Amino acid sequence: MKQNTMSYKIVVLPGDGIGPEISKAAMKILQCVVKKFGFSIETQWHDFGGAAIDACGEPLPASTLAACQGADGIFLGAVGGPKWGMNTVRPEAGLLALRKALGLFANLRPVRVHPALAAYSPLKVERIKDVDILIVRELTGGLYFGEKKRNADQASDVCAYSRFEILRVAKVAFEAARERKNHVISIDKANVLETSRLWRETVTALHQKEYADVQLSHELVDSAAMKLITAPGRYDVVLTENLFGDILSDECSVLAGSIGLLGSASLGKGKTGLYEPIHGSAPDIAGKNIANPIGAIASVAMMLRHSLGEHEAANAIEQAIFAALDNDQLTRDLGGQLDCMQMTEAVMHSFRA
Ligand code: NAD
Ligand code: IPM
Ligand code: MN
Repeated sequence: MKQNTMSYKIVVLPGDGIGPEISKAAMKILQCVVKKFGFSIETQWHDFGGAAIDACGEPLPASTLAACQGADGIFLGAVGGPKWGMNTVRPEAGLLALRKALGLFANLRPVRVHPALAAYSPLKVERIKDVDILIVRELTGGLYFGEKKRNADQASDVCAYSRFEILRVAKVAFEAARERKNHVISIDKANVLETSRLWRETVTALHQKEYADVQLSHELVDSAAMKLITAPGRYDVVLTENLFGDILSDECSVLAGSIGLLGSASLGKGKTGLYEPIHGSAPDIAGKNIANPIGAIASVAMMLRHSLGEHEAANAIEQAIFAALDNDQLTRDLGGQLDCMQMTEAVMHSFRA
């Protein structure tokens, strides 16, 4: 193998709940990869979310943001939990501020069904066996970031999108489709929302101008939520706005077998990305070492591919996950017996084999 002299700065934000457990698992895998592929990494762990509120009163301290801005890749466990509730200073606000500050407008959430897990899905095996969906979720606009108001008995959240914001994320979806089955399904609520009508018009115009070779269809979010479950094999790349993408990706995790399996990449203009499993801090199982670490490990693979350009290492992790699952190595959310660290060891074992 050619000697790899690259060195990368990785910031780890363990966060709250199961965040620290799965971050530890993910970093164990990364160390294992480093040994095999020869490049070096420097990891820096920083407070974020509820842990940062406890330490210094805010979810995204300036020192954490500065470290993220200087990193090659950022790994996040999860934030939030009942301890911080819905107070004005919330862990989740730190995550939104980080995505916005780094300009991470495109969130990629791949959903695949491993054959060994098809039986664990509540859906019929023949319906889900060929599922391979990439959700491209817009991440820095829409309802999440519009003006929020509250007066006595009234509250409002503004949903706003500009043509520019739609164009840049739609490009990500079309480019991804060209590397896959060449089909984008854009999901909106254009029968009701003005933002969705602008979304549909912008995506259609971009398609005609630059991506006419890619198949494009539009679906309304309510029936798409139904079809993603009844006929998930129809979907290749799903392009959608922030809130719909959040909801549909948790829904799609049911196809895969568990929300603990899915990783994600949040990308912007530059190379630095934020990598996190799609699940939350799972307060109900936190501190018990029973969380499924696969979503976190899959996020490390995405970091290697999208931010570090270490494609071979990324593929090797994905193959190791596949092999471990193939070998019936499963955590409890999938009906298995392994705890978080044992599952991590199982993936490391396949990786070294
Ligand atoms: P959740 O995703 O944390 O948990 C939903 C269910 O899935 C729970 O039963 C949980 O035990 C289970 N689960 C989640 N991850 C798992 C894993 N790796 N292995 C096994 N089981 C797993 O969603 P929630 O309960 O609605 O939210 C809890 C907190 O997490 C909230 O404060 C929410 O805001 C936050 N949250 C954070 C992120 C993030 O940091 N990116 C994402 C989603 C939710
Ligand atoms: C996710 C989470 C976040 C979101 C929350 C914690 C802000 O649910 O990453 O899916 O809604 O984007
Ligand atoms: Mn979510």
